[in-house]
Amino acid sequence: MGRIYDATWGRAFAALYDRSFKAAEEAGLRELRRRVLAGAGGRVLELGAGTGLNLDLYPTEVEDLVLLEPDPHMAKRLRDTAEASPRPVSVTEAPAERLPFADASFDTVVSTLVLCTVPDPAAAMTELARVLEPGGRLLFLEHVRAEDPGLARWQDRLEKPWRFLGDGCHCNRDTVAAIESSPLRLERVERGELPKAPPIVKPLRWGTAVR
Ligand SMILES: C[S@@+](CC[C@H](N)C(=O)[O-])C[C@H]1O[C@@H](n2cnc3c(N)ncnc32)[C@H](O)[C@@H]1O
Repeated sequence: MGRIYDATWGRAFAALYDRSFKAAEEAGLRELRRRVLAGAGGRVLELGAGTGLNLDLYPTEVEDLVLLEPDPHMAKRLRDTAEASPRPVSVTEAPAERLPFADASFDTVVSTLVLCTVPDPAAAMTELARVLEPGGRLLFLEHVRAEDPGLARWQDRLEKPWRFLGDGCHCNRDTVAAIESSPLRLERVERGELPKAPPIVKPLRWGTAVR
């Protein structure tokens, strides 16, 4: 978003993140995260892990967990969360569009509320497909563009101010279409709403796509 933005609002956004999501987590988001993460197994890469809200929700089938986070303010908090966790985890500061990992090195890639924010979602999809083993899965939970044309128009109108407030979050992205046009095969999608959220970021989809 720019250096001055990142040093001011970007820093505050990371500091306020857990508090601003508390009501949503308690109203059902945490349970949805748990449901999505239940499919994780083997070597797992989580994209844009933020402050680490998923960390204690992973099942025991996970053998190795790598948390990716390019934002230094988020990454600092993520490291603190990771150090306090009984689970062995590593944190890597890198963007989803340029993954510093070998081809086919993960069984699962996780993306929760991230594909709305990455600057180049198509490049991120290509990269995550590259690092997945054949047969490996993307587990996603993302807020998306509304199907209702009236709400979609509001998402388009408010995209810029929301992006400014939301540290780069695009409220009007059709992320399921982006997954469908990626090298992955969309396997399952469920639909619902992000609890306790403004209408423009309410439409929610979660599911799996396979390499
Ligand atoms: C709304 S937060 C979601 C955090 C976390 N995944 C969660 O579920 O609470 C969006 C995250 O995406 C990260 N992000 C932004 N650009 C990214 C990129 N190019 N690659 C990976 N993550 C990115 C942000 O730094 C932030 O941590």
